[in-house]
Amino acid sequence: MALRKIREMGDPVLNKKCREVKEITDNVKVLIEDMLDTMYEAQGVGLAAPQVGILKRIVVIDVTEERDEPIILINPEIIEEDGTQTGEEGCLSVPGMSGIVTRPSRVKVRAFDENMQEYEIEGEGLLARAFCHEIDHLDGHLYVERAEGGIHQVGQE
Ligand code: NI
Repeated sequence: MALRKIREMGDPVLNKKCREVKEITDNVKVLIEDMLDTMYEAQGVGLAAPQVGILKRIVVIDVTEERDEPIILINPEIIEEDGTQTGEEGCLSVPGMSGIVTRPSRVKVRAFDENMQEYEIEGEGLLARAFCHEIDHLDGHLYVERAEGGIHQVGQE
């Protein structure tokens, strides 16, 4: 198990657009394993590669309570979305803070898995929110840009 340092808001790497992954090299495999370890250790529901300083289009997500259903998205794209949900959102790169963000209530994503097989996955509620939040990271965007009324410390209004 290897943990990577999570970059925090203000680090310019978080505002850059990530490059597509062309092939699964040994480095990419290790990166994905480390991202999963880092996300679980930090008790996050998602982590994007730029959050550990790597400008590649890779995301890991797990919104389950059991923490046993990791989703790996390589070069993900949102291909369908509908509805809206408005709720609290946070980010491992903005520790201790949260904000109110409106997202689609359901999204469908097309991506490649860790074997570079293309697949589609659909999510509602928290999973839809996580897809949108993490894919934003790949284009250099943080949820704070979308937070209605700014961000506040968790537990305070
Ligand atoms: Ni985030």
